[in-house]
Amino acid sequence: MIKVLVFGKNGQLARSLAWRSSAFAGLNLQFLDRSDCDVAQSDNITKAVDLYRPDIVINATAYTAVDLAENEPELARRVNCDAVRTMAENAARHSVPFIHISTDYVFDGEGKKPYREADPVAPLGVYGATKLAGEEAIRAITNQHLIFRTSWVYSPFGKNFVKTMLGLLGDKTHISVVDDQKGCPTSALDLATAILRIVPEIIRPGFDQFGTYHLVSDAEMTWCAFSREIQAKASKLFGEQWQGATCQIEAVTSAKFPTAARRPSYSVMSTEKFMTNFGFGLPEFDQSLMEVLQKLAEGDAHA
Ligand SMILES: NC(=O)c1ccc[n+]([C@@H]2O[C@H](COP(=O)([O-])OP(=O)(O)OC[C@H]3O[C@@H](n4cnc5c(N)ncnc54)[C@H](OP(=O)(O)O)[C@@H]3O)[C@@H](O)[C@H]2O)c1
Repeated sequence: MIKVLVFGKNGQLARSLAWRSSAFAGLNLQFLDRSDCDVAQSDNITKAVDLYRPDIVINATAYTAVDLAENEPELARRVNCDAVRTMAENAARHSVPFIHISTDYVFDGEGKKPYREADPVAPLGVYGATKLAGEEAIRAITNQHLIFRTSWVYSPFGKNFVKTMLGLLGDKTHISVVDDQKGCPTSALDLATAILRIVPEIIRPGFDQFGTYHLVSDAEMTWCAFSREIQAKASKLFGEQWQGATCQIEAVTSAKFPTAARRPSYSVMSTEKFMTNFGFGLPEFDQSLMEVLQKLAEGDAHA
């Protein structure tokens, strides 16, 4: 059995890892929630790694409140950078690999073609800056790391755009959605499967593909286009009687919804490096969105 220590238990990615882990018989995942291990206190991390003596460490915690981070930069830094550094140090001390998740918000969005891993970074806000600082801390400490930058994460769990849209579409006759930011909506279930699939590979001695990778779905679109995809697929799934099927979706600019933190207007990322080095990519967007909608329709998830 491969012992996998996962910091985080209740976030989108952690719950997706737990959900998907039943398909990976050789993996034994131990999840730590905030009460087991508040990662903002570095001693907790050290104690946890010493206690569980894992074969690999995965960080599924993060300070993800992008706008709130502008007012809480210290806390965001403790979770997204200091805790990540301590996890990397402990993984290195035990000579085991460390998997960490980062974000498209390390880029400023001025790019015109899908970002590659080596493209210059220039975060626009505190969240992106602290996530970038976390990446840099890992690289300075251990070569045995995989940093997966992903974007626009949705799942049957927690708060996310798909669940927000389903609620709004069902409640309103008309909604406005931002149409001047483009990215790649990515299912946390797909991320979880990809991560669990490569765990046995990367703990093998001689594995030499460590580094930073972009890991997102194959579809690039605006938030407005994403909301229309959600509406179309949910209408198919829930049938004509679903009230959301007739809600009007108006495309607006982000000026209509001022936010504390600026977002990159273009954060599409190329997954070519991941596909070349690992030999597979994430499933098609249509299939992934439908899977999440189906799980939500089954109704057994998902506060
Ligand atoms: N969500 C996105 O759209 C998105 C986009 C790009 C990249 N990412 C990255 O993808 C990864 C997974 O994101 P996600 O969507 O799964 O995030 P999420 O749903 O917001 O989950 C984050 C988890 O971190 C935990 N956490 C925060 N501070 C903690 C602390 N001090 N001690 C212990 N646990 C703490 C939270 O615990 P509680 O449940 O107790 O609050 C929560 O369960 C993150 O690295 C994120 O930066 C996410």
